[in-house]
Amino acid sequence: MPLLLEARNLEKNFPRAGGLVEVLRDCQFTIDEREAVSVTGPSGSGKSTLLNILGGLDSPTGGQVLYQGQPLDLDDHGSMARWRSAGVGFIFQFHYLLPDFTALENLLIPVRGRGQVNSKDRERALNFLEMTGLADRAGHLPGELSGGEQQRVAVARAFMNRPRIVLADEPFGNLDREIGTRLGDMLFALREQEGTALVIVTHDARLAGRADRNLQLENGRLVPMENMSS
Ligand SMILES: Nc1ncnc2c1ncn2[C@@H]1O[C@H](COP(=O)(O)OP(=O)(O)OP(=O)(O)O)[C@@H](O)[C@H]1O
Ligand SMILES: [Mg+2]
Repeated sequence: MPLLLEARNLEKNFPRAGGLVEVLRDCQFTIDEREAVSVTGPSGSGKSTLLNILGGLDSPTGGQVLYQGQPLDLDDHGSMARWRSAGVGFIFQFHYLLPDFTALENLLIPVRGRGQVNSKDRERALNFLEMTGLADRAGHLPGELSGGEQQRVAVARAFMNRPRIVLADEPFGNLDREIGTRLGDMLFALREQEGTALVIVTHDARLAGRADRNLQLENGRLVPMENMSS
């Protein structure tokens, strides 16, 4: 498969009283189209920082991210907005659904960000709700859904704009393990159907075991993870 996204010599420091905290140091990463990669690492090792940089939500202090061979330029607001709206989908630990919008409307938010919502988009959103077992919840507000159901909406929403890559940050970390495993099945089924690359930060070895490659963030660098148990 062709190379989709590449990070070269990433470095990220945050200013902290009296100095800098070095989070990423000379960090390299590549992912091919349709590939799934898991990332694990201790709390505070920089996993969320890395995903934010890969997704263009934050800029590295050094190094660069290349998408299909072209560097992402955070100063170029137009191209970054296009990348964030069409190139990449995000799933966070907490769903961030808009409370006053129904499940269906929440799915259509990324589409709305791009322009008019048409009947095809609506059909696609309804299909996703069907796939995620929420067909009869389309008109429900997030407050009327369980935590697992809310997160299912968030998973489906990440795929709405047909992104080339989905970045998932501990997406099921706050759910019951069994529900998390079922949602993991759903996430991997969706990415298979959509042909989307996936980077998933997870502590769940079973979930990580479904990825094509397992990486660990260690001392600011990504290294292959040995002895993955699944
Ligand atoms: N905006 C910020 N300003 C200052 N320091 C930050 C900022 N964001 C993150 N950090 C620091 O960078 C380090 C990495 O944070 P990050 O959130 O990426 O870790 P993580 O691996 O995702 O941890 P967790 O597993 O707990 O989610 C931490 O030491 C954190 O305190
Ligand atoms: Mg994190």
